Amino acid sequence: MTQPAAIGHPGLVAAIAEDIHASGPITFARFMELALYHPQFGYYTRTTDTNDAERTGPGQACDDRIGLGRTCEDRIGWNGDFYTSSDVHPVMAQALARQARQVDEALGRPDPFTVIEMGAGKGFLARDFLAACEQLPDGFLRRLRYVIIERSPAMRASQQHQLTRWLNAPATVSWLDDLTHLEADSLVGLLFSNELVDAFPVHRIAIEQGRPKELFVGWEQGRFVEQAQPLTNPDLHRYLQRLSSIDIALPEGYRTEVNLAAVAWMKDVARVLGRGLVLTIDYGHTAQDLYGPDRRKGTLLCYYHQMASEDPYTRVGLQDMTAHIDFTSLATAGEEAGLATTGFTNQMSFLMGLGVEQILDGLEPGSRDFQAIVHLLRPEGMGRTFKILAQHKGVALPELDGLRFKPFFGSALRMPAYAG
Ligand SMILES: C[S@@+](CC[C@H](N)C(=O)[O-])C[C@H]1O[C@@H](n2cnc3c(N)ncnc32)[C@H](O)[C@@H]1O
Repeated sequence: MTQPAAIGHPGLVAAIAEDIHASGPITFARFMELALYHPQFGYYTRTTDTNDAERTGPGQACDDRIGLGRTCEDRIGWNGDFYTSSDVHPVMAQALARQARQVDEALGRPDPFTVIEMGAGKGFLARDFLAACEQLPDGFLRRLRYVIIERSPAMRASQQHQLTRWLNAPATVSWLDDLTHLEADSLVGLLFSNELVDAFPVHRIAIEQGRPKELFVGWEQGRFVEQAQPLTNPDLHRYLQRLSSIDIALPEGYRTEVNLAAVAWMKDVARVLGRGLVLTIDYGHTAQDLYGPDRRKGTLLCYYHQMASEDPYTRVGLQDMTAHIDFTSLATAGEEAGLATTGFTNQMSFLMGLGVEQILDGLEPGSRDFQAIVHLLRPEGMGRTFKILAQHKGVALPELDGLRFKPFFGSALRMPAYAG
């Protein structure tokens, strides 16, 4: 018999199994939502092991072999399951601060200039961004309001810890639950995110007998099982129709993901932005690349102790789950909701446009800082895997420094409007 520990966090596995028992097989998106964000046991939401101890009994509570001995903060970073740019070096935050200042100038130095960061994780990017803003001229820090939108209370606690230094000036940093708390067109400034959208729950699609099916998750004999069911969700149907309108045909046996939450999020972002810029940093591709023949199994990956796995049904709640972004659909959703596409670039080009070469020139080639920055620029690694989508509204922007080197033509993200 399968041991619960191999399947995942015992409390979470029981909660998902109960969900399935109550309503029948659930969509993969619902499964991923519970695995990552279940209020008590989710990968991003679980705080301390006290919860685990209460639910599983003291014998299992601190069993490191199944990952229960770690806090939420331990799971991201060099010694965690995965790391992000902000774990590597503050240079991305410094570049974002310079980019923000250029937008501030284009907006006529508004007071306040608001920055919203969504999905701030441990808060390193926010900390380094605010530190970089202290060096910027024209009273930028004084006019800055930094708002974090973070759905995980555990991550929020970590952010508060990182940002202690700025908490005494209450207007500078604040937290919001989600974008719905903001009025339409109320944001004047910048909204950015790093590795937020790839952490949204995705639907999974399989092409069987010439037709797209949606993958559901059931529970049989003590384990999660996948079931392909006919497509009934009209939003998924519409999404796939739009892909076929740009000649993307998914062949028999193809498996992939659709991030409907990303499209909904983009519309919310467009609604709240009055004047300013949106920067979405994440790993992903144009729709043509993401849904091309090279990716027949999709891009869903799970990370545990820096090891990637394609199996989302083991270590449930103990491993991260993520899927690459379809930047074409994101840009199109934004355009339909009133955001103009400013440009699309990769992390290497973005950092180069914002002066990383000058920073490197001032460093010893063998130094830790030098090596860390090079790690972020590596063309065969983070430099090109990570892309940056820039969108704007309500302002005529100058050529942004971050978009000075654009490896993609503007048309790369184009998709015709959906006529149905
Ligand atoms: C992969 S982590 C990235 C963390 C951080 N941005 C970094 O670069 O290190 C994703 C973060 O987004 C948060 N998140 C996911 N969905 C969210 C949502 N709808 N609203 C706000 N935060 C969200 C997660 O709780 C987590 O903190």
